[in-house]
Amino acid sequence: MIQEKHIENAISELFGNLKFTPEPAGLYDPLRYMMEIGGKRIRPRLCLTAYSLFKDSFSDEILSPAAALEVFHSFTLIHDDIMDKAPVRRGVPTVYKKWNDNTAILSGDVMSIESYKLIAKAPAVVLPDALELFSTTAAQVCEGQQYDMDFEDMESVPMQDYMKMIGLKTAVLIACSAKMGALIGGASEHECELLYNYGYNLGLAFQIADDWLDTYGDQAVFGKSIGGDISNNKKTWLLTRAFEKAGDLRGDLLAAMSIPVHTDEHRAAKIEAVKGIYDKLGVGDDAKQEIIRLHSQALGYVSELKLSPEAASMLHNYASALLGRNK
Ligand code: IPE
Ligand code: IPE
Ligand code: MG
Ligand code: MG
Ligand code: MG
Repeated sequence: MIQEKHIENAISELFGNLKFTPEPAGLYDPLRYMMEIGGKRIRPRLCLTAYSLFKDSFSDEILSPAAALEVFHSFTLIHDDIMDKAPVRRGVPTVYKKWNDNTAILSGDVMSIESYKLIAKAPAVVLPDALELFSTTAAQVCEGQQYDMDFEDMESVPMQDYMKMIGLKTAVLIACSAKMGALIGGASEHECELLYNYGYNLGLAFQIADDWLDTYGDQAVFGKSIGGDISNNKKTWLLTRAFEKAGDLRGDLLAAMSIPVHTDEHRAAKIEAVKGIYDKLGVGDDAKQEIIRLHSQALGYVSELKLSPEAASMLHNYASALLGRNK
């Protein structure tokens, strides 16, 4: 087993040493920009954590695939920000804002290819399974993103449809990260599945927390502009739950959602109005309860893994760090 303290060092070293083609700058600079600003890197960290349960040291066989997960994730963010009209991410201007749409599209494309080059460095014995897992996951993320966009034009969606959508756009990549680490670490199929389910449930909770932070977070810490989801009529957990509970407030909620967002003032008014209804209904607290429920569901899979107390505590600690997040 690899000790927890070595994971953080491996992450810093890995992203410190990652190099991309220098030219053309217009193609690769946005890629470097995204990777250098760096996000929380929860996916490579989970991949290395899962691998640590089965191996005694890190080598390129796992470091490159771990990096692939982060490069792929960062690519989806570049395209997601165009789709969501988001001006800031990780505390800095989004790629399409700093450059332009075409640059963001093409740099995103090349990043997705870079992620495949990195995943292909998985050991030959597991490479077919690793590629299958990665490709299936990548297609599912696109499917989830399509549902997310389709849902913007709907008045509301059933909670079940919301959960399916976030399962695809967010949870599968986190699940894949855990399973990838296990797979390359030599875990059994059963262990791989348990770690996948652990990651999937954490991933669902992660997206609900992201939805919560989009309304209730602090922009300076969260690094993204607050209220973007409300402004876009995104079908977030908060909105979906609000429709479930609205009762007599349903009309008010629909009226608030239809406030136009042509000017900054209108936009702020819409955010305030929708948030006011969320507060009356208490959906922010409901979201917190749901996040806790999904976390305990995730930890249920950990107990099925039959790990040593030290190994199990790594998975518990990883989950706790996500639970307490404010960015
Ligand atoms: C943002 O992911 C997109 C979601 C799935 C909610 P992260 O919150 O992991 O973003 P970074 O990588 O830390 O910036
Ligand atoms: C994230 O959804 C899903 C993907 C990027 C695949 P969001 O649109 O909620 O992510 P943020 O809030 O922009 O990071
Ligand atoms: Mg989005
Ligand atoms: Mg977005
Ligand atoms: Mg979001």
